[in-house]
Amino acid sequence: MSSNRKTVIAGNWKMNSGIEEGVNLCKEIISNLPTTDAEIIVCPPHTHLYAVSTVLKNSSVSLGAQNVHKQEKGAFTGDVSAKMVAETGAEWVIVGHSERRQYYGETGADIREKILMAQESGMGAIFCVGERIHEREAGVYLEVITRQINEVLDKRIDFSKLIIAYEPVWSIGTGKTASPSQANEVHMHIRQCVAFLASTKISEEVRILYGGSMKPDNAESLLTEEHVDGGLIGGASLNATSFCGIISHA
Ligand code: 13P
Repeated sequence: MSSNRKTVIAGNWKMNSGIEEGVNLCKEIISNLPTTDAEIIVCPPHTHLYAVSTVLKNSSVSLGAQNVHKQEKGAFTGDVSAKMVAETGAEWVIVGHSERRQYYGETGADIREKILMAQESGMGAIFCVGERIHEREAGVYLEVITRQINEVLDKRIDFSKLIIAYEPVWSIGTGKTASPSQANEVHMHIRQCVAFLASTKISEEVRILYGGSMKPDNAESLLTEEHVDGGLIGGASLNATSFCGIISHA
């Protein structure tokens, strides 16, 4: 954490919970929210967005979504556009999550289009990068991250509406967290990539979150690293006590 950047704790609920359950979870989070300067975001499934947004109104918790389509509108049965998501009250959208890269074959070009569409619709994007286990073991993880950053971020991106999340794939849902120094090394590298692509000033301002098995008992050590500006939380964001426990370290 650095005092120059506002910490972010974001919850990615993935495909979990019903609408009523999600609404109740948000009520519980709001009533147990520790005093914090951090920005708190919850990202429920699309079907919950509108109901959750009415609960979050007048609270300090913001709403995010987990995906948007890369096109503005049209014959894309079953898909949801960025404008539609923004209309629910969502201010953020997660893009480039490794689960979407893996199960839906999303490419860097797709991810870039989604970020641009989200930003055009007035939302910010939480852009995820992260290496797989064989890439970590082969020692090529920094090259992988560089490629993932370079194929997505270009001059059209509004960096003031961008958060980057480093989520090593081997740590997602596995209970195997990156060590604080492993996380900090990659975050510092991401900042260097952003400095090269944009500017040193932007690289010092952009928030970089860590995601992957973050829990109340390991959050503090990760969040105290200089380049770790917050967390993108999966499993532990589905429980108000553990989510608020993480927030208490932010
Ligand atoms: P877990 O916290 O469940 O490992 O998930 C992390 C994640 O994928 C958040 O986007």
